Amino acid sequence: MNSYRWFRWQMVVVAFVLMVFLSNPVRSQPQTNILITACSLVNVTNLQNFYTNLNETFRNVRQQLANNNTHFATADQTRNSESVYVMGQCRNYMSARDCVACFDFADRTIRVCAGANGGRAVLDGCFLRYESNSFYDQTTLPGNVGLCGNRTSSRQRVFETTVDGLMSNLSIATPKINGFFAAATAAVNGTNTSTAYAIAQCAPTVTRDGCSDCLQKAYSNIQSCATDVTDGRGVDSGCFMRFSASPFFPANSSIDIAPFLLDGGSSNKGAIIGGVVGGVGGLMILLILILLWYRRSRKRTSPGNSLYGATELQGPMTYSYNDLKKATKDFREENKLGEGGFGDVYKGTVKGGNIVAVKKLAIGSAKDNFDSEVRVISNVHHRNLIRLLGCCSKGPELLLVLEYMENGSLEKYLYGEKRGNLSWKQRYDIIFGTARGLAYLHEQYHVTIIHRDIKPSNILLDTDFQPKIADFGLARLLPEDKTHISTRFAGTMGYTAPEYAIHGQLSEKVDTYSFGIVVLEIISGKRCTDVPNESAGDQYLLEHAWNLYETRMHLKLVDETLNPNDYKEEEIKKVIEIALMCTQSPVSVRPTMSEVVMLLSDRSRVQNPPSRQNVNFTDIRIQVENSTSTTLSMSNADATITELTGRK
Ligand SMILES: *[C@@H]1O[C@H](CO)[C@@H](O)[C@H](O)[C@H]1NC(C)=O
Ligand SMILES: *[C@@H]1O[C@H](CO)[C@@H](O)[C@H](O)[C@H]1NC(C)=O
Ligand SMILES: *[C@@H]1O[C@H](CO)[C@@H](O)[C@H](O)[C@H]1NC(C)=O
Ligand SMILES: *[C@@H]1O[C@H](CO)[C@@H](O)[C@H](O)[C@H]1NC(C)=O
Ligand SMILES: *[C@@H]1O[C@H](CO)[C@@H](O)[C@H](O)[C@H]1NC(C)=O
Ligand SMILES: *[C@@H]1O[C@H](CO)[C@@H](O)[C@H](O)[C@H]1NC(C)=O
Ligand SMILES: *[C@@H]1O[C@H](CO)[C@@H](O)[C@H](O)[C@H]1NC(C)=O
Ligand SMILES: *[C@@H]1O[C@H](CO)[C@@H](O)[C@H](O)[C@H]1NC(C)=O
Repeated sequence: MNSYRWFRWQMVVVAFVLMVFLSNPVRSQPQTNILITACSLVNVTNLQNFYTNLNETFRNVRQQLANNNTHFATADQTRNSESVYVMGQCRNYMSARDCVACFDFADRTIRVCAGANGGRAVLDGCFLRYESNSFYDQTTLPGNVGLCGNRTSSRQRVFETTVDGLMSNLSIATPKINGFFAAATAAVNGTNTSTAYAIAQCAPTVTRDGCSDCLQKAYSNIQSCATDVTDGRGVDSGCFMRFSASPFFPANSSIDIAPFLLDGGSSNKGAIIGGVVGGVGGLMILLILILLWYRRSRKRTSPGNSLYGATELQGPMTYSYNDLKKATKDFREENKLGEGGFGDVYKGTVKGGNIVAVKKLAIGSAKDNFDSEVRVISNVHHRNLIRLLGCCSKGPELLLVLEYMENGSLEKYLYGEKRGNLSWKQRYDIIFGTARGLAYLHEQYHVTIIHRDIKPSNILLDTDFQPKIADFGLARLLPEDKTHISTRFAGTMGYTAPEYAIHGQLSEKVDTYSFGIVVLEIISGKRCTDVPNESAGDQYLLEHAWNLYETRMHLKLVDETLNPNDYKEEEIKKVIEIALMCTQSPVSVRPTMSEVVMLLSDRSRVQNPPSRQNVNFTDIRIQVENSTSTTLSMSNADATITELTGRK
């Protein structure tokens, strides 16, 4: 390597480091320390529109931070299909220049989210967040965290009663302070006297009570830090808290919060604001308050605005029964999309124009903790799983609001009016996506969700024919007694693993089995209860597939509507092999869904080919033959059920 160039490069680095150092001489710690970067798992559909909106709103927020002498800004762009809502906030001790620098850093950081429809970057000095729906009034949501710093090597215990008291005081005082920000210090009472530094901040768009709730949560998260850490932070949707043993804000930013701790301090608030700001300032605050109120009241009347997309922290929306009744034209028959295991589904257009699917739960009364159960399901974000957007538990029926899928279910494309319309590429994508969705439910979400009823009518297709699994986790919504009754009676005959259908033994591998059956159906275009080849005797699809596989004739299984030039034989053979692996028993020889995903994405051959010895065809025949006599009861709410268990 050219040593001169190397030297020059080093000089540039040194100069850069010096520049950063000199431009920030007072701060002992950089304000661009990244605390959290998170992206929504849902990608936008129109990248062009999305980036146009995102860049425009980011520019807008940056401009406000740079020119309006403010530390907080929101902007939204709802012009086209990809609406973007942005919030940016700097800690109030940041100068306008540092604030913009921090914003730019956050902007670069958040770009890792690429085409995700939500993202956030939380830094020490600022934060930036965008979503596809409004989140400005969010306060505390699942996902809030306490971030604890290093434990101190000296024996000094910083996080003692003094720091605890300081954080507690801040969490009480800050909501009462105009602008929802406070920085304060306290003398640490130890052998060596030192100072503790702390700040608390809420988004100005939350209510005072919301700010208070949020800071209480942040405070309790920080309390979980060890007593000898030198710094800690609490991060939530609507607020931020931090303490440190070393100064991280200029001394003149800190205030005396004692007046705000007195009971009735709130009633003094008006007087304090008026006294400090007076005349024109007071008028402006009044205007801002009116503006905020206007935004809020407008938002309340249009829940449709806040529909799709979210980063991981978002909860479900609550809809009014009357709004949903109106959206579905009074649950009119022509709006009916289908009859699922848990009740009928209707197409609805909510205010704001978004189209949703509304499911009328046929389960009578709700479980006591219906709302918290709905939250668990609504926090499942995966592009191959149907989003639960919200619910309505106050009305004559329990209603769930779900993502609407333009193309309906896979069943329609395999056996219904659209039969023969799927190419091999599309079928492969559906197989792969379904496997990924199940792997997420089984292994990646924080509770294990076993679907128990994987079948083509539960696999919905979006406009790009990507699959999304429906009806997972609904067993959580059943009242206790009903869950109990249905524990052993679930699934749809033909798709249900024998150990579950016969002995009620439930595990994630129950879904692996059903997945294998569905894959065979996708490849063959035949139902598992069909007899594909009359001349070969009374063989149902699964047995037929095994027989062909044994004789290396399994390409004969392929749907005749598929164009042979359209697929690679080796690829189809491999997928059939994987499907057969999934239908083996006992469960120990069946792959997990994440193993299936690996097998599908790996170009190499399957290592342990499936073996016919691992299938008991008598069990399967009994099941399939029963299926004809039980089809009628399939619309019964108890006939198809999902189950979920705590992750061990
Ligand atoms: C979203 O898009 C990015 C590329 O822009 C891709 O890497 C990522 O896998 C996608 N995520 C999902 C969940 O589809
Ligand atoms: C948006 O901004 C990013 C990064 O600044 C840039 O790479 C991209 O080209 C911009 N896109 C549009 C559509 O303006
Ligand atoms: C911020 O300042 C710009 C001009 O620099 C002005 O047009 C805009 O209305 C201001 N925004 C707010 C929220 O005050
Ligand atoms: C915490 O410890 C790590 C590893 O020892 C170190 O790199 C980091 O700078 C420390 N952080 C602080 C705030 O002292
Ligand atoms: C107090 O400070 C002195 C010197 O600054 C140091 O030697 C001593 O270890 C400190 N004591 C504690 C308990 O940290
Ligand atoms: C917290 O507030 C109480 C009541 O004003 C006060 O007595 C106490 O000293 C404060 N604690 C700290 C650490 O500032
Ligand atoms: C500091 O702690 C000592 C005992 O640990 C106590 O006697 C003293 O009153 C405390 N001082 C303050 C200001 O709280
Ligand atoms: C704090 O001091 C700096 C200069 O040291 C000044 O620029 C800034 O405006 C002051 N902040 C407040 C809140 O007084």
